[in-house]
Amino acid sequence: MRLKTNTSAKILIFPDLEAISRHAASIFINLSQNCIASHGRFTVAISGGSTPRKLYTILGSEPYRSLIDWGNVYFFWTDERCVSKNSEESNFKTAFDALFSKILLPAQNTHRIKGEESPEKAAGEYEKDMCEFFGNSKVIFDLILLGMGEDGHTASLFPSSKALEETKRLAVPVYMGKNKINRVTLTLPVLNNAAQILFLAAGRLKADIILKVLGNRDKSYPAGLINPVHGSLHWLIDKEAAEKLISSGKASNNLTISESAD
Ligand code: 6PG
Repeated sequence: MRLKTNTSAKILIFPDLEAISRHAASIFINLSQNCIASHGRFTVAISGGSTPRKLYTILGSEPYRSLIDWGNVYFFWTDERCVSKNSEESNFKTAFDALFSKILLPAQNTHRIKGEESPEKAAGEYEKDMCEFFGNSKVIFDLILLGMGEDGHTASLFPSSKALEETKRLAVPVYMGKNKINRVTLTLPVLNNAAQILFLAAGRLKADIILKVLGNRDKSYPAGLINPVHGSLHWLIDKEAAEKLISSGKASNNLTISESAD
C-alpha cells in the first residue's frame, strides 16, 4: 500500500527489526555506490544505541559486505558518550564490534569523537576534524542514521536541552547531570543539512513517542525537529512501534506498510 506523501518525511513500516535492518542495509549499499560513483566518496554519520546494531552486523556480513567499497566510505558519529572507546557505553565500540572488526576499513576512514577527552575538548576537536574533512565547505553528510529514545531525543539532543538552540557550532558538549555520562552531539543544523536521513525505531516501547512525533508532529521533541533542508527523510519503523500511529489514522498520507524488507 503506497499512499501519496505530502511532506518530505516518508514512513516505511516493516514486520520487525530484522526487516528494517535489511532494508536500511540495501539503502546504505545503493547510496554508497551512487555517492562513490558521483563524487568519489560516501560520508555517513551513525548513531549509537541498540537499534542499529543489527544493521551494522548485516553490513559486516555477506553478501552485503562485498557490495560496499569500504575504502571510500567515511564514518562519523551523530554523538558519543564521554567514555573510553573500549567502554561498553561507547558508540564507537558498538560499531567496531558489529561492523568495523568484520571489514577492511582503513583506520583513517573513521572519524571518532574522542570520548576519552573532556566534553568541550572532544566537541572542539570533532568540529575541527569535520571542517578539515569537508574542506571548510558546508558539512553535508551523504547519509545520517538516527535513532530515537522514548523521550523523543535523537543523537544526544535531549528535550529542553540548550544544545537544541545551537545554530553555529557543528558539535557541542552535553552535560548530563548527576551520575550520568556526559556526551558530545552533532547539532541540528548539521543533522538537517544531510542529503539523506534514516531514522530506525522498533519495539512497542517507542509506540507512544512515534505517535507524538510522527502523528501529532509535536515539535517539542528533538526528533520532531529533524527535517532536512534539502535532503530526504525516511523513518523505518516496525509494526510494534507503529501500532498507535496506524490506529490513530494520522500521517496516513506518508505511510507505506511493507510486508518484507524490500
Ligand atoms: C545514543 C544514540 C541515541 C539513540 C537513542 C535510541 O548515543 O544513545 O545515539 O540517540 O539513537 O537513544 O536508542 P535505542 O536504539 O537503544 O532505542
